[in-house]
Amino acid sequence: MAGFSSSSFSSDRVVPEGGYRTKAGDWAPSKPVEYAPILKFPLNIKNIFKWMFAYPGYLWPFNVIYFGIVLLTWNYFQPPVEKFVTLEIGVISKILMRNFALLWIWYGGWHLYLYTWRMRGQRRKYCARWQSTKGSTFLLKNQVYDNIFWCCASGCVAWTFYEVLYFWSMANGYTPMITFKDNPIWFISQLLLIPIWREFHFYWIHRFLHWKPLYKISHYLHHHNINPGPWSGLAMHPIESMGYFSVVLIHFLVPSHPLLFLFNSQHTALTPAPSHTGFEGSLKGGLPFGSYFHYLHHRYFDCNYGESGLPFDKWFGSFMDGQKDIDAARYPKTYLTYEVIRIEQESERVKSFYLKREDRGEIAPHQSGQHLLFRVPVSKGKVLRCYSISDSFNHESLRVSIKKEFPPIGSPDLPPGEVSSYFHDEIKVGDTVEAKGPRGDFVLSNDMAPVFLAAGGVGITPIIAMAKDLVLEGSREVTMFVLMKNSREFPFQDELLKMKNESSNLRVFVGFDEPLEEDCLGKSHDFEGYFSREWLEEVSYEKTSKAGNLEHYICGPKGMMESSIKILKTFGVEDHKIHMEVFSTSVKHENEENSDVMEGGQVEFIHSEKTIKWTPEDGTLLELAESNDIEMEAGCLFGECGSCKVNLKEGEVVYDHPVAATVEKGTCLPCSCRPKGSIVIEA
Ligand code: FES
Repeated sequence: MAGFSSSSFSSDRVVPEGGYRTKAGDWAPSKPVEYAPILKFPLNIKNIFKWMFAYPGYLWPFNVIYFGIVLLTWNYFQPPVEKFVTLEIGVISKILMRNFALLWIWYGGWHLYLYTWRMRGQRRKYCARWQSTKGSTFLLKNQVYDNIFWCCASGCVAWTFYEVLYFWSMANGYTPMITFKDNPIWFISQLLLIPIWREFHFYWIHRFLHWKPLYKISHYLHHHNINPGPWSGLAMHPIESMGYFSVVLIHFLVPSHPLLFLFNSQHTALTPAPSHTGFEGSLKGGLPFGSYFHYLHHRYFDCNYGESGLPFDKWFGSFMDGQKDIDAARYPKTYLTYEVIRIEQESERVKSFYLKREDRGEIAPHQSGQHLLFRVPVSKGKVLRCYSISDSFNHESLRVSIKKEFPPIGSPDLPPGEVSSYFHDEIKVGDTVEAKGPRGDFVLSNDMAPVFLAAGGVGITPIIAMAKDLVLEGSREVTMFVLMKNSREFPFQDELLKMKNESSNLRVFVGFDEPLEEDCLGKSHDFEGYFSREWLEEVSYEKTSKAGNLEHYICGPKGMMESSIKILKTFGVEDHKIHMEVFSTSVKHENEENSDVMEGGQVEFIHSEKTIKWTPEDGTLLELAESNDIEMEAGCLFGECGSCKVNLKEGEVVYDHPVAATVEKGTCLPCSCRPKGSIVIEA
C-alpha cells in the first residue's frame, strides 16, 4: 500500500492576540467576520447608531480622515477650476503629482511600518510568509516592486484620469452641480452615502471582473497577490483600474460638489492600503487596519467579493466568515472529479499527473507538503490512496507525482501495487480521477528561521513543493538533501537544478546509494553511500544549525527517516525542530491478507443505515465504506492523524499495523483496521 504518516511536533495553539494560529503560522481572528448592522433585519436602530458614531465605526476614523485629506488637497493642492477648460499638460501633471505624493505617503507609510521596519513583527499577520522576492509571476520577481509599479502606472493614472475628466467637465459646465449653501441636506446626505455607494459599486464591478474572460485579461494580475501587502491594494491591470475608479462617474449624472467628488475619488484610491495590509490591528492603539474579510477573498478567491458593510455576499451565497469555513475551504470534504491534463515521466518509476477540476472550478488552496486523498477503482472495488502535491499552489491545476510500486523485495511473485500501476499504466491525458483534499499537517511553519529539507526516494514529492515555496518566498536560507538510489531513479532533476541555479537562498546536495556506472561523483551527485554525520559536517551544517536554529522537514521511507533523525540528534537538534512524513511503500495491504480476519463478517454502518458483508478483498473498513458510497472522514490513511476515528458499537477489529493515533475503548480507526467477525460502527 502506498500511504504515509505525518508527524509534526508543533500544534494549533490559542494565542493571546484575539485569534489563533494554524500549524503553518497563519493567523485568523477568533471571532467570525461580521457585517455592519445597516442591512441586518430586523433593523436595530441602537446598533446602527453605535456603528455610525463608535470608534472605530462608520465615521471614525477613516471617513473623517479621508474628508480631512480632501479639504487639505482642495484648499492647498487644487489648481483653479478655470485652468481645466483647455486641459493643459501643466494642470494634468499637477493632479498626477498630487496623486503620486498621496499614494507614496499613504501606501508607502503602511508598507514602511509593517513590512520594511516590521514594527509589529508577525503579530496578527494573516499569512505567516512575507511577500515574495522570487515569484516568477511578479515583475522583477519581486511582489513589492511589482505592486508599486502597477499602483503607480495603472491605479494612479486611472485615478488621475477621472479627476482631470471631472474638473474639465466642471470647468466647461457639463457637470451637474450643487452648493453647500443651497443644498446643505443633500450635500451632507451625499457625504454620508458615498462610502456606501463605493461599496455597492465595488461589489458589482468586482463580480464583473471575475467573469472569466475579464479575469483572464485583467483581474488575474491583482490575484497574484494571494498574500497581499499595502501596495497590493491598487496593483491592478489598467482595465481593472478604469473599472474600479468608474465609481466616480456618478458625479457626472447626479448633481454634486467637487468636494464630494474628491471625497469619492480619494476614498477609492486610499482605502485599499489599510484593507490590504495583510495584518489586523491598530496603529499605536488608534488607527485600525486590516480586513480579514477581504484577505479571505485573496486567499480563497471565490468568496467575499464585496466588503463588510453591505451583505451582498451573504445574500448571494459567497460569504465566508473565516472561522469553520476556513478549514472547509482548505480541506473540501467531498470528492471532486479532476481531469488529467498532462502526464510527465519524472524518472524511471515516477510520473507526474497534472490535474484540473473537471467542472473547471477553482483549485482549493493548499500548502506545500499537503496531499490529496484519491478514490481509485481497481479490481476489488474502490480503494484509497494519498499522494502528495508536488508543486506550489496555483489557481489553475495541481500536480501529484506517483511512484510505480513493484512487488516487495524477496517476493517477486506478488503482483505490483495495483493503484500505482493503475495510474502509470491506465491513466491517460483526458481521463478523470476522484480526489478529496488538500489535507495534511506536514507543512512549513511560520518560523522565519532557516530550513533543512531532506527527501528520500519518492519522499521528494512534498519536499520539492516546499523548496519551491521557500524559493518563491526568498527570505529563508534553505539546505536541501536529496537521497536517491541513482540518476535513473531521481525525479525532478532538471527542476531542482533550475531552482538551484536561479535562487540565492537554496543549497541542494544529492546523495546516491547505488550509483550507476555513468553517474559521476561531483557532477551528477555530491555524496555516495548513506546519509551520514560526515555529509552534514562537509556542508557546514553545524554552523548553519547553531547560527540559525534550523527547522527540519524530512520525508522518505521509514529507515531513512529514522537514521536521519538519529544523525540530527547527534548535533543536538530538538524534537520540536523536526517535522516529518513517513512514506510507506509496502504493497502488503494490496496483496496479502491477515489470517485473523480471513473469514469476513457483516459490517453495520449505523448512520448510513447499511449493512455490508466484508470479505478480505474489501480491504480496510474505510475502503469497504468508500466502495459502497459511504463517505467517511480520513486524512493520513496510516493510523496517525485520528481523523477517521469512529465509535465501534459492537464487535472487534484487527489492525494491519501499529497506529500512532490514540484509540480509546469503543472506537476504531477504519483506515487501518478490518473487522474480526461482525461489527457495528457509527458511520
Ligand atoms: S485517516 Fe488518519 S488515522 Fe485514519
